[in-house]
Formats: sequence, structure tokens, C-alpha cells
Amino acid sequence: MNPVRISSVSGSLANPVPPPSAQEIQGLLRGVIDPELGSDIVDLGMVKRVDVSPEGDVTVSIALTTTGCPLRAQIQKDIRARVGSLPGVRSTHLNWTELSSEEKSAAMARARWNARENAPATMVPPTTKVLAIGSGKGGVGKSSITVNLAVALALRGLRVGVMDADIWGFSVPRMLGLEGRLRGTMADDQRKQIIPLRTSIGDGELEVVSMGLLVEDEESALMWRGLMLNRAVQHFLEDVQWGDLAYLLIDLPPGTGDVQMGLARLLPRSDMIVVTTPALAAQKVAARAVNMARKCYLRVAGIIENMSEFTCEHGTTYRLFGAGGGEALARAAGAPLLGQVPLEPAVASGADDGRPVALGEGVAAEAFRAIAERIVTDAAPPVDMASCSARLLDAAIAALDAAPTGVDTSTAT
Ligand SMILES: Nc1ncnc2c1ncn2[C@@H]1O[C@H](COP(=O)(O)OP(=O)(O)OP(=O)(O)O)[C@@H](O)[C@H]1O
Ligand SMILES: [Mg+2]
Repeated sequence: MNPVRISSVSGSLANPVPPPSAQEIQGLLRGVIDPELGSDIVDLGMVKRVDVSPEGDVTVSIALTTTGCPLRAQIQKDIRARVGSLPGVRSTHLNWTELSSEEKSAAMARARWNARENAPATMVPPTTKVLAIGSGKGGVGKSSITVNLAVALALRGLRVGVMDADIWGFSVPRMLGLEGRLRGTMADDQRKQIIPLRTSIGDGELEVVSMGLLVEDEESALMWRGLMLNRAVQHFLEDVQWGDLAYLLIDLPPGTGDVQMGLARLLPRSDMIVVTTPALAAQKVAARAVNMARKCYLRVAGIIENMSEFTCEHGTTYRLFGAGGGEALARAAGAPLLGQVPLEPAVASGADDGRPVALGEGVAAEAFRAIAERIVTDAAPPVDMASCSARLLDAAIAALDAAPTGVDTSTAT
């Protein structure tokens, strides 16, 4: 195999931002998961070579388990989205080959090992698309957007998880009108696990976890709290029995930092959606969340501008918080502007009444539905496993189930 060439040549005048190094690109590719094997493509030995020209033209050579795999389009899209979002990248070219049979066995062994070693690490299914909603700033509507997007996605018949990562300032339960409590259960290995609160929305379902849903009145509450407060987000990822989610939406606390970094470490395949208001000053603060995402190799899937305009009952439209912040941030981040949500009193009253505006009609509801459509069809589509015939993950799991504990390993492949 050819050695990876590291290139960090400064850009020419036509391309003033220096191109990223091959190593940076490899780091970013660690966020691309082969959905069947449940591990990242670098770890699985599928990234054969990365070349970067001084002009910022990137060529990535990828070897797949089978070149005919229908998941190729998915992987391709993911690589392009990630590499293309790096400053200094002018073009992305992909070369496809097939793993040799030895490499295939090595990839399978690696996937199996990862499945075993990482099984307790996160309980978020490898086929779940993870979207973290953040902003550098407080009060811009992260929680409102998380909750309404979750509802809009569920209304499309999807199963959607909502993880309230705002441990101290949780607002998701109130916004969704949830009154139940999370229940604990004991896993086979005697680890305590949490069952998310489930609620049907149209043909879809929401699974919600928040500090606000922890048991309050029983003795176990104290134990849960002691257990959780320290590393709540990690516990939410590791110890929650998430179902077979199409999406997991994570409502990040205001600011940048610990939670975002922890997420990047535990779930490097997470995408970020950054929320800003139209004010240019707010956009500058939100840009910090974009920079942080870059540093942690998280892909920014898009920008949402919230509180865009207000149309009064007489039909006059006011731009109360200025204009242009969303567009400007999208340009700076190299990510699409997924939509603009108007300022509408129903968003706030819906949050207070526990009936998200996306359940009803109106301009904000339409905006949320349009953003959900954009996410599903284009910006961060759900992982489609149905079309893949090669079901390698099932084979790996079957082999795992058969091999380690029983005396008879004759069925293991
Ligand atoms: N489009 C909108 N129209 C009207 N009110 C809105 C809109 N978006 C959010 N709000 C209101 O603005 C306030 C702040 O929203 P929200 O709590 O979602 O922001 P946040 O970014 O999650 O805040 P925090 O940083 O405190 O977590 C809430 O009262 C909410 O109802
Ligand atoms: Mg919030």
C-alpha cells in the first residue's frame, strides 16, 4: 500500500486558505461509520489513501467490503459532506476499490472486536443518525428547535430519540408536556439501565431522556442522582435502552465546551446543527459552536436561523432581531441554511403548554416541517438498511453470540 502523503502546503493566491493535511482528513473520516459493521471506515482499514494537492483538491481511496453494496451512496455522501466542509478544500474525489478477502476478514474481525469492546460504550444503535443542536449562545431557541424538529420528524412516521443534555437547565419535558418518570432496569450484566419515556406522535414515536424525568419521590431518586449528576451525558448514551431510532436529537446546553467534546469522543459520528438568531452579533457567537465542532471533527450538517421575522395580526412583517445572521453563518461554516423559523408567539405558548407548535398549523409549524423534510431528504438522511443485501453486521453478531460463551463453537464462522 502506498504511504499516506501528508500535505500542508500553503494555498496559492486563488485559494488563500491553506488546504488541510491528509492526517486532518483521516481524523475527520473517523466520523464516517460503515452502518453495517458499526465501526468507522478508518478503523476498519477501508481508507486506503488520502492525497491533498496544494490547491486543495482531495482524493480519497476507499475500499469497500463489496463494491456493489447499496450503502456505498451513503458512505460517499457522508465523506463528501465531511471533507467538503473543511476550509481550504476545493474539490473531493473518491476512488472505489474492494477489500481483498484477507482485508475483509480483518475488517470483520475488527468490527467484531469493536462490537464486543464497545458494546457498553454507547447504546445508540449504529444505524441511528445523531444530530446535536447547539449554539454558542443561550436563549436562541435550541430546546424549542430540538423539540419541534423531533415532533416534525416523528410526524413523518419515524422513531426519534430526544436527549436533553442540558443537565441543569433542562426544558424538554415541559416543552413536550411529559409528566412521567424514567424507570430503571437491571441489564443482564447487572448494570443499571434507564428506559426512556416513550410517547406516540402521529405514526411515529418519541423516546425522551432528561434530568427532569428522573424519579423524584422514591428512595432510588437519591441513588440515581448521585450516579447521574457527575457524568450524566455519558450515562444517557451508555445506559439508556434506546430503541431502534432513526434519529437521536441532542439538546445541548448553552455555550461550547465539555458536552460537545464529550459527545465527539463518545459518538464521533454525531452531526451538529447550529442555531443562531438573525442578529449579526449572535451569529458571531454561534460561530464558536461551529469552530468547536471543527476542532472535535464533528460535521456541521446545517444552520437554523430562529426568531427570523415577526408578522403581526395586520400582516406587517418586522425583522425584530435584524437579518442575515443565518445566511452569514451558513456561508462561514460551509454548511447549508436549513431554514428560518419566524418569531411566533405560538412557539413560546406551545412550549409553556407542553404542546409543541409543530403539532399544529401556522408559519412556524410549516418552517419546522420544511426543515425536517430537508434533513430527511438531503442534509442528514436516515440510514437506510433495508436495501442492503450484505447484512454483514447480522453475521458478526451471530458469530459473536455463538462463539465466546458456549463450549460448542462449531456454529461460529
Ligand atoms: N421562534 C420563536 N418564536 C417565539 N418564541 C420563541 C421562538 N423560539 C424560541 N422562543 C422562546 O424563546 C425562549 C428561549 O427558547 P429556548 O429555551 O428554546 O432557547 P435555548 O437556546 O434552548 O435556551 P437555553 O440556552 O437557556 O437552553 C423560550 O421562551 C421559547 O419559548
Ligand atoms: Mg435550552
